[in-house]
Amino acid sequence: THRLVVLVSGGGSNLAALLEAHTDPGYGARVVGVVSDRPGVAALDRAREAGVPTAVVALRDFPDRAAWDRGLTEAVAVFAPDTVVAAGFMKLVGAAFLDRFGGRTVNTHPALLPSFPGAHGVRDALAYGVKVSGCSVIVVDEGVDAGPIIAQEAVPVADDDDEQSLHERIKVVERRLLVDVVGRIARDGLRVEGRHVRLG
Ligand code: GAR
Repeated sequence: THRLVVLVSGGGSNLAALLEAHTDPGYGARVVGVVSDRPGVAALDRAREAGVPTAVVALRDFPDRAAWDRGLTEAVAVFAPDTVVAAGFMKLVGAAFLDRFGGRTVNTHPALLPSFPGAHGVRDALAYGVKVSGCSVIVVDEGVDAGPIIAQEAVPVADDDDEQSLHERIKVVERRLLVDVVGRIARDGLRVEGRHVRLG
């Protein structure tokens, strides 16, 4: 089956959705490793509970960002992934990582890109006053949430939403979209031609 490594930094609800999906053999993909840039996060507990091996590659343990990026690349390569999934991974990957895993690393983001990239997509969308937001699954490139878009889904904004309530509504849709896209990549493949992406 198609081997997935999931990159995480926090709660790991998207990871949990992938761990649930992969218990179905028909899903076609299996999470074989989880790599975090932060120790002690809930996502690591979720991986351990599912019996999936984990690694932590923290920026502060390396002399500079390029060395960290090489460390991350090696930690991921150990698991020999077919696809890498950034699921709430809050760091930018660098040149070494993209040399090895470019074109087969995807990221999920809680806004309709190219609007509201970055670490505070939900907050920024609310502050702008949009009435519809959503989530995006993209191919990772050197930019900040700037790679080719694989799939998106819209989520309405309520008048009384705060960051947390909107993020929760988005995350329900996001988990389903991410699981669906990753399953399709596993079964049909991912082809990236410039800004255009085809599943299958
Ligand atoms: C998700 O909503 C994900 O899209 C977002 O962080 C959350 C992680 O939740 N990522 C970004 O904002 C990346 N720019 P989780 O840890 O519960 O999966």
